[in-house]
Amino acid sequence: MSQVSKSREIKIAPSILAADFSRLGAEVRAIDEAGADYIHLDVMDGHFVPNISFGPSVIKSLRPHTDKIFDVHLMIAPVDPFVEAFAEAGANIITFHPEAGPHCHRTIQAIRAQGCKVGVSLNPGTPIDVLEPIIGDIDLVLVMTVNPGFGGQGFIDSQLNKIGRLREWIDQLERDIDLEVDGGINFDTAPKAIAAGANILVAGTATFAGGPPVYGSNITRLRTP
Ligand code: DX5
Ligand code: ZN
Repeated sequence: MSQVSKSREIKIAPSILAADFSRLGAEVRAIDEAGADYIHLDVMDGHFVPNISFGPSVIKSLRPHTDKIFDVHLMIAPVDPFVEAFAEAGANIITFHPEAGPHCHRTIQAIRAQGCKVGVSLNPGTPIDVLEPIIGDIDLVLVMTVNPGFGGQGFIDSQLNKIGRLREWIDQLERDIDLEVDGGINFDTAPKAIAAGANILVAGTATFAGGPPVYGSNITRLRTP
């Protein structure tokens, strides 16, 4: 598995949850220039997860600051009434949690209808089986390696096995599906996630630690452990 992972292109998606919120536009420009592949935008509603972050208006205000992919992670319930607003705000990928509502396939259709890529996120306690009926309809699987709601938490090692099983499954499919890992990614855990099969790493704390002068070296070190 490690030989395969070495040839896989690794993308880094800094989560702006760990940025300086008083100067978000400048932070987004800084991580863009520092080599971020995607901008990961964590939307929390204080209902699906026990924290509140920001919504479509903040995302819209950040859109002019970068041309990078906006990777929008919705930790909200319900999802469907807000899909259009996030798409119009500039989302390129919209990822949701299947527990957010009773009709996850309808949510997939709603995201697709807006022209966005579709991601589905699995909490640490969510089995991969929920993907079985929908794997052919999605573009990305986001494996949570923390319980969602907060940055700066510790990586849950037991999820590596899940990442490995998803990588084997995805490799058997005819269509490319991204395997993204989110939560507790740092210089120690990034190599484990990559070896298990991830090709996109979300990193909040580890990207922004040390401030703008080291964003570039942080991103490079996360990408090439
Ligand atoms: C957690 C969020 C993550 C988080 C990552 O609910 O989905 O994206 O901000 O933060 P770090 O990298 O600090 O664990
Ligand atoms: Zn996230």
